Amino acid sequence: MDKILVIGASGKIGKKLVKQLAQEGQTVRAMVRTAEKQQEIDGYDAEVVIGDLEGAFEHALEGCDTIIFTAGSGGHTGADKTLLVDLWGAMKVIDCAVENSIRHFIMVSSRGADNPENGPVAIKYYLVAKHVADDYLTRSGLTYTILRPGRLLDEPGTGLITTLRPADPNQQIISRDDTAQAVIHCLHNAATDNKIFELYRGDVPIAEALR
Ligand SMILES: NC(=O)c1ccc[n+]([C@@H]2O[C@H](COP(=O)([O-])OP(=O)(O)OC[C@H]3O[C@@H](n4cnc5c(N)ncnc54)[C@H](OP(=O)(O)O)[C@@H]3O)[C@@H](O)[C@H]2O)c1
Repeated sequence: MDKILVIGASGKIGKKLVKQLAQEGQTVRAMVRTAEKQQEIDGYDAEVVIGDLEGAFEHALEGCDTIIFTAGSGGHTGADKTLLVDLWGAMKVIDCAVENSIRHFIMVSSRGADNPENGPVAIKYYLVAKHVADDYLTRSGLTYTILRPGRLLDEPGTGLITTLRPADPNQQIISRDDTAQAVIHCLHNAATDNKIFELYRGDVPIAEALR
């Protein structure tokens, strides 16, 4: 059975993914930064490895087939951490994935990463980081799927989304639940290979929207 590595496993989306994949009976390895974070994953029936994108993480990829990258430095940190985690960390993982012949790399990116020039000035550095990391992945030779969710909400998922960007920025939103479901759909459906999707709250079932 394939082994799936979740990078960012202690994050809000990461935890949902680890939990559901383990419940599905998938073989999951969850990468977290610290032993303290490890405790948060301990009940999930997943193997946990400690790794830091700013330090050593390469061991986490050994023996894995698929990577889900849902790590990010978060809005509470500055541009320096965005550079080191969202950009440089992602690029290092992509290089390591090539070395380890990873079969599928799923990247949780962001709306606006397609064209940082059009995004809000306040988060342009973040969109540039996501853009360059996504671009690096598409050029890596790896089989990839890139998901670019809108602003993430902690509300229950509906299973209904759209990949078409709403004109109103206030409507460019999606729950973390639905984002996690979209990731899992991509994991199981080769039709999403080598594709990039934006994700927003909508009225189309996930499987149909990502067809
Ligand atoms: N917030 C939004 O509205 C929004 C919109 C679109 C896309 N996104 C993107 O969606 C992704 C996931 O979102 P989320 O809400 O699940 O994020 P989150 O809860 O902040 O989780 C981020 C994860 O990245 C990990 N991480 C941070 N620095 C790391 C490092 N140096 N090495 C290893 N892991 C590290 C965190 O670990 P710790 O638990 O140890 O901190 C955490 O597990 C992020 O990439 C974010 O940029 C967010």
